[in-house]
Amino acid sequence: MALRRPLLMGNWKMNKTVAETRAFAEALARETSALDASADYAVCPPFTALSLAKVVFPTRVAVGAQNVHEAASGAFTGEIAAAMLKELGVTYVLIGHSERRQYFHETDAACGRKVAAVQAAGMIPVLCVGENEAERDAGETEAVVERQTEAGLAEAAEGSAIVIAYEPVWAIGTGKTPTPADAEAVIAHIRAVVERVKSVDFAASVRILYGGSVKPENIRSFTDQPNIDGALVGGASLQPESFVAMAVAMTGGEVE
Ligand code: PGA
Repeated sequence: MALRRPLLMGNWKMNKTVAETRAFAEALARETSALDASADYAVCPPFTALSLAKVVFPTRVAVGAQNVHEAASGAFTGEIAAAMLKELGVTYVLIGHSERRQYFHETDAACGRKVAAVQAAGMIPVLCVGENEAERDAGETEAVVERQTEAGLAEAAEGSAIVIAYEPVWAIGTGKTPTPADAEAVIAHIRAVVERVKSVDFAASVRILYGGSVKPENIRSFTDQPNIDGALVGGASLQPESFVAMAVAMTGGEVE
């Protein structure tokens, strides 16, 4: 099986001004030695802080965006195109986070087009999938992630990198999580879907993260699972101390 580098990714959502982003970066810079070179790290600030983040984040911490529009340019007031993100040095772009799907009505098909736009611009899409509570209760988890994964990969370029994040909606910001074994089972299923729609080799190399109420105390229980290649973290990524603590835990260190 191809080696998959662990990835810890913070999603700040609608949090932090430019000044607050600078303060985070300054604190993080004092801890860079704790970020083990065996893993990849990224943080997704709001659009307004991306260009500063690219300058002030330690080079080991890549910059991600939280959304993108699928079109290259045009009359889409308030939207941001992939080339605009690429120009700022953005590496990753979240696609189809459940908050985008829920509050901004992003469809599976739109997510597929956004994946293609991000790859065409030379960045790595992070496709978010996951069932909500009603779907979980109805036993539809596998069907939901399968539908979202297939649509998200429908227009993906052959051979271009993509990251998938499995985030059960009911676990986001709630303090509730699936058991590591349950998250592993869903992620193994997602990998099987990738294998079916792409290839065995591609599925073996694609990184699939777990997200939803990840914190320093529980990250390792998820990333120790064979199919879980890292974490996408909201709340616990806002403080530099907990971001670093998660990085240390994920790469095998002791959490203080
Ligand atoms: P949380 O959010 O870590 O605050 O639960 C995760 C996410 O929405 O990516």
